[in-house]
Amino acid sequence: MTLTLVPPAPVLPTPVRPDPLGVLGVPGEINLDHAASAPCARAAADAVAELLPWYASVHRGAGALSRRCTLAYERARQAVADFVGARPDDHVIFTRNTTDAVNLLARALPAGTTVVTFGGEHHANLLPWPRGSVRLPVPDSPAGAVRSLAAALGELARDA
Ligand SMILES: Cc1ncc(COP(=O)(O)O)c(C=O)c1O
Repeated sequence: MTLTLVPPAPVLPTPVRPDPLGVLGVPGEINLDHAASAPCARAAADAVAELLPWYASVHRGAGALSRRCTLAYERARQAVADFVGARPDDHVIFTRNTTDAVNLLARALPAGTTVVTFGGEHHANLLPWPRGSVRLPVPDSPAGAVRSLAAALGELARDA
């Protein structure tokens, strides 16, 4: 599958005040933030542009436009399910962003669940977890991460 990305805005906003770090508005700057707030895929932008004139409430209206948008929404849910190989009793839940999704997951965990993270995680993946969760030091290598995680999980299993 080839994914074409919509080129990000050609220039980042020009800072109103001088930018002390000198990172805004630098010609030729490359946007490397593809972990979460990634540039929009061309196919997604095209699909949004195509549906936008027909935009109406999803699952909250009986009119033709609402029905059309609801159908598109549910088709998108099915496309995601197919893409990730979801099983028939799995559910695809759309969230606003990564932070929203992780918080939703954190609140759905059974009481007493321990979550293991690394200290280098984005705040979105540090703050929501239950009290008593384990935060491991930032690993020095991928192999170090695997070792450290295996040790922590082993310790948790012994204590259980
Ligand atoms: C690695 C990483 N995780 C999580 C987030 C949070 O994502 P969102 O802005 O979608 O809530 C970001 C945001 O840039 C991120 O870079």
